[in-house]
Amino acid sequence: MAFFRGIPVSLWGSGMYVPEKVLTNDDLSRLVETSDEWIRDRTGIQRRHIAAEGELTSTVAEKAARAALDDAGVDPSELDMIIVATNSPDTLFPGVAPKVQGLLGALNAGAFDVQSGCTSGVYSMAVAAGGIASGMWKRVLVIGAEVLSPLIDWTDRNTCVLFGDGAGAVVLGPSREGEGKFISAELRSDGTKHEQITLPGGVVQYPATAETVKNKLHYVAMKGNDVFKFVNRTIPPFLRDYCGASGFSPEDIDWWFFHQANQRIIERSAERLGISPDKVILNIAEYGNTSAASLFIALSEFLREKRLRKGEKLLFTAFGAGMTYGGIIYEA
Ligand code: UT7
Repeated sequence: MAFFRGIPVSLWGSGMYVPEKVLTNDDLSRLVETSDEWIRDRTGIQRRHIAAEGELTSTVAEKAARAALDDAGVDPSELDMIIVATNSPDTLFPGVAPKVQGLLGALNAGAFDVQSGCTSGVYSMAVAAGGIASGMWKRVLVIGAEVLSPLIDWTDRNTCVLFGDGAGAVVLGPSREGEGKFISAELRSDGTKHEQITLPGGVVQYPATAETVKNKLHYVAMKGNDVFKFVNRTIPPFLRDYCGASGFSPEDIDWWFFHQANQRIIERSAERLGISPDKVILNIAEYGNTSAASLFIALSEFLREKRLRKGEKLLFTAFGAGMTYGGIIYEA
């Protein structure tokens, strides 16, 4: 666990974008053997947004970025760094961040991607806040963006009902008069479980061949139940310890932003930590699991509806391929 020291860093603005097209559970039940009832009961998901043909991760990222820059009142030319958290880059290289930097005309900014499963959002926020706290950067645009739909096997009911496309973004900068600050972050990984969520095909280990395509190695594969057990075992004690090390008890946190992977996981974790359900942000019903974008979308929606009160504490936590997990605390 590490406290942010040096220059206090605050959230200057946020934004989001999700594709227009919606895929309901009933739509899915016409593609695979599933039902609205099964999906709702097991995951809490009702709908998910799916990118249109030609809508890429860089496209949704740019739209969320423009909304966040508008909200923060920051011009692209003022950015020092653009970080994109994604597991579905348009191409293996270049990354999404340099493309977005070009699209925005952010001429003074560096750009790089963070790819660490669904935890990428927490990792990238921590890196951005650490970079500003150290004095290395002043204004950083952090985007979580996914267009996972082309990477999904739409005949595999174990995965196709879960994921959605979309993007969210935040602009971070040094705290100004009366603004909040990031308090601490804890970034973890258990790489012994790297086989639980994978997309193995088409890169170094399994270069694309007719065989890899036939075996569907170019699609997301997940041992859902193993992930479910890993997360339920790991996340509640992790969060209790992380809060404690940061000087808080779980009750001290005003708003809990869990990665929106499964409503059952979120509710079970909240229950075990003794968190009141009205402090837990839930939007999985509308968007499904948008992986690295999920925390940014949840935060942007939240801030559109609510004004943070001075001193309120927000905890962001995620878990995903790696298996990585982590948390970051912000005080308004
Ligand atoms: O963001 C990255 C992190 N990912 C996650 O957090 C995902 C974590 N895992 C999960 O959310 C849950 O494991 C799932 C929602 C993926 C699955 O729920 P589960 O309660 O763990 O179900 P299961 O995998 O144990 O499968 C139970 C049954 C199986 O049938 P049998 O073998 O008992 O006959 C599955 O074949 O449910 C079946 N099943 C389905 N049935 C209807 C699996 N997917 C579906 C489906 N519709 N879509």
